[in-house]
Amino acid sequence: MTNKEITKKLYEEMMEKAIEVSKNAYCPYSKFAVGACILTDTGNIYTGCNYENGSFGMTICAERNAVGTAIANGEKKVKAVAIYSPNKDNCAPCGACREVLHEFSINDEELDVILKDKDKIVVHKLSYLLPESFNL
Ligand code: THU
Repeated sequence: MTNKEITKKLYEEMMEKAIEVSKNAYCPYSKFAVGACILTDTGNIYTGCNYENGSFGMTICAERNAVGTAIANGEKKVKAVAIYSPNKDNCAPCGACREVLHEFSINDEELDVILKDKDKIVVHKLSYLLPESFNL
């Protein structure tokens, strides 16, 4: 298999995990489930789903949940993230999650954001989704 084929297979597997974890979303208010699966520079993967709160602002997105789990496991460099919602094709991360992914990317040109458009996998660089990101 070529490197390109290996990456495609890995990204499809990550999307399957994002689909699976979206089933655990706690979203009684929006009814909008989201699942995310991230790949770190060590080759490990971590998943997360959104969980809402009656105090709406306390809601945590799937992507930030997955990143938090990676951090708790001692990982700080995200290489790629697959995102899925059964409610929406091409469910791209919200602005807040783009900034959080930027914080933990090696660089935005390398971080792949993997989305699902019907049966097709679509990959964007984070720099495309978040130009002029905030940096301290
Ligand atoms: N949501 C995510 O999990 N990720 C995003 O990038 C955007 C939005 C969740 C938050 C909330 O539970 C629901 O989707 C509707 O906004």
